[in-house]
Order: sequence, then structure tokens, then C-alpha cells
Amino acid sequence: MINISRAAGFVLAAFVFSAGGSAQNVVLRTDASALVLDAKKGKKLKHVYYGGPLADADIASLHAAQGKGRNAYPDYGMLTAPESAIAARHADGDMTLDLRVDSVFDQTIDGATVKTVRLRDNVYPFTVDVNYHLYPDDDIIETWTTVSHNENGDVDLTRFASSYLPVRSSDGWLLSFYGNHCNEAREECRAIPRGMTVIKNRDGVRNTHYAHPEVMISLDGKPRENDGRVIGAALEYTGNYKLRLDYENDNVYHFFAGINEDDSPYTLSAGEILATPRVAYTYSSQGLGGASRNYHSWARKHKIANAHRDRKILLNSWEGVYFDINEEGMKGMMEDIAAMGGELFVMDDGWFGVEYPRNDDKQGLGDWKVNPRKLPHGIKGLLSTAKKNKIGFGIWIEPEMVNERSELAMAHPDWIWKSPNRERTYGRGGQQMNLDMANPQVQDFVFNVVDTLLTNYPDIDYIKWDANNAGRSHGSQYLAADRQNHVYINYHKGLENVLRRIRAKYPDVTIQACAGGGGRVNYGLLPYFDEFWTSDNTDALQRVFLQWGTSYFYPAIAMACHVSSAKTPHTQRVLPPKFRCDVAMSGRMGLEMQPKNMTDFEKKVCRQAIADYKIIRPVVQHGDLYRLLSPYDDRGAASLMYVAPAKERAVFYWYKLRSFSHDNLPRVPMAGLDADRTYRVTELNRIDTKPLSFEGKTFSGRFLMDNGLEMPAENRVDDQDREEYSSRVLLLQAID
Ligand code: DGJ
Repeated sequence: MINISRAAGFVLAAFVFSAGGSAQNVVLRTDASALVLDAKKGKKLKHVYYGGPLADADIASLHAAQGKGRNAYPDYGMLTAPESAIAARHADGDMTLDLRVDSVFDQTIDGATVKTVRLRDNVYPFTVDVNYHLYPDDDIIETWTTVSHNENGDVDLTRFASSYLPVRSSDGWLLSFYGNHCNEAREECRAIPRGMTVIKNRDGVRNTHYAHPEVMISLDGKPRENDGRVIGAALEYTGNYKLRLDYENDNVYHFFAGINEDDSPYTLSAGEILATPRVAYTYSSQGLGGASRNYHSWARKHKIANAHRDRKILLNSWEGVYFDINEEGMKGMMEDIAAMGGELFVMDDGWFGVEYPRNDDKQGLGDWKVNPRKLPHGIKGLLSTAKKNKIGFGIWIEPEMVNERSELAMAHPDWIWKSPNRERTYGRGGQQMNLDMANPQVQDFVFNVVDTLLTNYPDIDYIKWDANNAGRSHGSQYLAADRQNHVYINYHKGLENVLRRIRAKYPDVTIQACAGGGGRVNYGLLPYFDEFWTSDNTDALQRVFLQWGTSYFYPAIAMACHVSSAKTPHTQRVLPPKFRCDVAMSGRMGLEMQPKNMTDFEKKVCRQAIADYKIIRPVVQHGDLYRLLSPYDDRGAASLMYVAPAKERAVFYWYKLRSFSHDNLPRVPMAGLDADRTYRVTELNRIDTKPLSFEGKTFSGRFLMDNGLEMPAENRVDDQDREEYSSRVLLLQAID
């Protein structure tokens, strides 16, 4: 093993060693994966390997096995044909880069050891650090770059990907996500076509209504759930992104991920450092399921606020009363959710605005003062009602936004995000605009919205942080004319600054990331949030698909899943209460309706579901996910399960997705259990008059995983009454 000298102030590299004569390998190992780079000083940094674990013998002979090495961070200029990760126009106008390995060293960033390969241009004083942070237990490797220079003037970065990864395969498939508001996280799986596949976002503010900044690449043809080699990639960013997958004639899929530089090149001053967002890669030989479980475990340990804590079961007021907030109504909802066994009530939009009361989506945003006509006893009164009912209290805000008709817009017209020379442009309600988060005064204002609420009312337990506007027009009244290209990037830097301050002061408050539903489901924001609102669509049938897509990268603990009213607002579909509850019970369960309008039967089912959810909550929120039967396979049903880490408990879900007579529904073998243990099966949230034939019976884990249990196709409440969409939730408990 050799050490390579490092830049001043950094610790010597421990992982770098020489193998095979001239090669100087950087070997980054996790428990079940390895990434190898060839980092010879003065040469191009080469990617050698990313895949399963390597023995020392493999590493010694690796170069012989791998064929042609690829640049690990391709630069533009000296070899112009291949796609590049970075391109720059130097201060003197030159457009070439030739980055060479300078040093390899360890450094501490945010308390963690990070391996850095420093690249320097061989002509210009231009440096790129390629950084790696390893999470060995979860087989996750994060990588990103830090770019700086010391030239005689500004350098324009026209491309600045966080990462490049060459993936060698001749039958690569791509799993990616597309969608829309109320139809988020639809999965799409296809053989990777020749040419360039681009997955991107240009919303400016939110980034997951449509595409997602995450993909899985299967190396072995169409990906399977439990076997096959899969590489996952998640860009940890909440702004505009671009993922590129270039595939020409060399059996290598060239993957690039980073900020979307369209209309957004970055002008880097001398001495300034641009840190690109991290990409979290995982490698799994256990198919998509293995890769998902890696992400989930990593997220719970490192990327989700307060993930050690069980999440409360809540009622959110939005679909129940929309903007019609008043003290009596809130009191009624609190009493109703408490009576059903719920633990938290969240008052949504409509509680604020004095001069411009927030009675609809056309005014009031920005004026975070309680409307005394609606809430004469203010938030204090609501908190005391919550206390009486022994539940927590949460509140909705949308602090990055402002309405034209608001005291804030009148007082601070210069805080509005717009081109300095043009008229305002409006979004939601024809009135909504964004505040310019690049402006430090705006950052202070947004921080103070939260700080004032939590200082005045320390008993507030939960905040729902919404964002309902896209970036409507390019422009900042704060940024200088020659930095207008930083509009998007600085918006998100500003947002992160605020969130960092909030979390430093209020680490314990639960905060939900909402953005017109599922517009901010990303790992860039999650570290500051406890969960996200998965979608504004609460139709349980569509939710089966939506939650399925979201589950590839995000664990159940972060996925807010609410039971809607019988007639779901967005699709007008009428679904039985058990089905609605059973679907919500597979994530972070909550309710989204007016309890006053519920029938006694619905209330009974919800009460039961809440009580049963409390039994399985630790398994759902902290256990391992196994997707069993995909709704996308169109087999008439969908099924998944969660298994506790020690495999002593599991929860199995089965949903019938269409109502065809005598449909040929599959029996679903289970997964993730201990083959040698015996499990007792108990149905939860049961509404049928007769118990299931296997109720209370015991089976070996092996039998359940080889064979599964035959699900009756219908729920029978009585002889006359059959429900159209049936579902089951089974608890499996090891008895030995
Ligand atoms: C959009 C959110 O997704 C909804 O849940 C709700 O909070 C509304 N905004 C309120 O305006």
C-alpha cells in the first residue's frame, strides 16, 4: 500500500495502493460492492470497475480483465467527440480542459470521511475535486465534485455534472419515472435505446411532478425484483436536473447526472468553490428490490430527519374543508380524529391573512398572521383544543411564495422573483409568485416565518411546508446583471441555507415536504424533512401505482399516505373504506377528509385500521420492503410486504385492482421471511363476517415464500354485500 501526498490540511489517503505494476488504484469498498479508479499522478483519472465485492486477487488482475479504461470524469476540449461531464470557457476565452490526477486524500466533510481525487488542469489554474463518501453497510457510494480556479477573471462552466459512470453491459435496461401533478412516480422500464436518453427537469422550484432524478439500470436485461445486477443512481438535488444516458456502439452506457445547465451556466469567480449536488449510487445483485432496500436503509439512517422515530397518525384538513377554516370546524376535526385513535391534527391552507384573508388561492400568501375572524382564539386556542384531545397539532405554510394581493408583495416588491425589466408573471390562482430565495433578506424572512411560529407556539408538533408554483420567469431582482444565469442554482442554495438554519434550531419538529403534492420527493431536500406528501391524488386505486413507483427509492416512513373520502376528490371514484385504509396502511398512514361526512361504518373501519396500524407501524416504518406483485404487470392484483430487520414479524398486503368476475388472479409467494421459522398468520383490519381459512394458522417461512396463501377475491361483509375492490392486510408473527 502506498500513500499519495495530499494538499495541505488533509489526512493521508488510506485506501490507495499499487497493484499490477504502474497502476495506482483507489479502491472504494462497501459490504457488497466496490468501485475502483486508476489514479496515476499526472494522468487522466480512469474508471476501472463498479460492481460486486472484489477479492485482493481480483484487484491485482483487474486492469487485465477490464479492457479499455474510461475517463472517470470526462472533460471537454482535448478529446472532443465523447460526451463530457465538465466543460468550461476560461477567463481568456479558451474552451479546453485537460484535467490530470494531482493527489488523492481523505478529508472530513460534515463530520464524515470523504475520499477525494484532486484533478488539475495541466495548463490553467483550474481544479476539480472528485469526492466519494461511502456508506459500507448500505452499499451506497455518494459522489460529487467541487470546482474552483484561480484564473485572471471569471470562468463560465457550461457543463458541470456531479458524476459520470460508465456501465458495461450489452443488454442494459432503464427504470425511470414520469408523471404529472396527481399522477406522480409512474414507472417506465425499457431497453436502453441507442443515442442519448435524457431525463430532466426545468420547473425551477420543484422537481418530481414529472420526471424523477433517480434511475435504476439493470445490467442483465429486463430487471427483476429479487435477482439480477442493478445499479441505482439518485441525484440529491431539489432544483433543475439532467440525467443523460449515452449509448452508441461500445456496449457501454455512459451515465451523467447533475444540475441542468440549460439556461443556467455557472460563472465561477476566482477563488469561489462550486460544490455540485451528490449522486448516491448503489449496486445490488438482488435486483430492483435489493437496490431499493439499500436506499431505504441508508435513507432511514442518514437522509431523513428523525427517521428513528415512529410517525404519528394524522388527519389533515385540506380535502375535508379546503380553505374553509374556522375554530368550530377545526375543533370538530380534532375531536373526530382523536375519537378514531389518531395522534395529530394538521390545519392546512386558509388560516392566515388579515388585510387579505386567505379564503381561496388568490390572495394572502406571504401574510403569515392568523385571521382573527376565522380563529378568534388564535393558534393558542387550537393548541389547547389539541391538548384537551390528547393529540398533537400541526400547521400548513408556503413560505417561499407570495400573492399579488398581500401586504408582503406591497411592502417588498423587490423580493419577488422576476426579471428586473419585465412585468410579473403569475401561477396558481392567477396570483401566485415566488420569492427570490437568492436574496439573503428573503432567506431571513422565510426563516422567520418558521421561527416566529415555533417560538410563539413551541407546542406546534408538525409543519407542512408547501410549494405550489413553478419558476414562472427567469430573473432575480437581487442578483447582478452578470449573474442572472445563477437564478435557479442560487434559489436552491438559498432554500438550503434556510432549511439548515431551521433544522439547527428546531431539530425535533416534524416537517413535511409538500409541493402541490409530490413535487419535492428528492434526496436533496429530505435531510431537512421528515417525510413528503406523495401526491395530491388520494384515490387509493391510483395510489397503489403511485406509492409503488415512489417505493423504488423512498422508504415507507417518508411516504405520507392518507385515506380519502369515499368519493375521491381527484378521480371521483368511489372506493370502499377498507381498501382506502389498507392502501394508506402501507405507508405513513393518515386521513384526508371531513370526518363529519363519514358513515358509521366508515368510522368503524378507520378506527380499526388506525388501531391495527399501531401494531404494525414499527415494521412498516422501519422494516424491509419486498415488492411481490407489481400493479404494472396488469395481473389484476398487487402485493407487497414489509419484514422487520430480525424477521420475527412481517406485514403482507394484497390489493385487488379490478373487478372482473372469475378473474384468474395469481397466488403470490412471499419474500424476505426466515425460511426456517414458523409464522402465525392474523388478518388485520378485518371486515369480513367469516375469518379467512388460514386465520391463526402457522406456516414455515419456506412454505410462505415458495407457495404463498390463496387470497379470496372478495371481502364479504354479509351475504348480500360484496365490495368491488377487495384487499387484505396480514400480520405474520414468528412463534418460535
Ligand atoms: C397543495 C397541497 O399539495 C395540498 O395538500 C394542500 O396543502 C394545498 N396545496 C393547499 O393550498
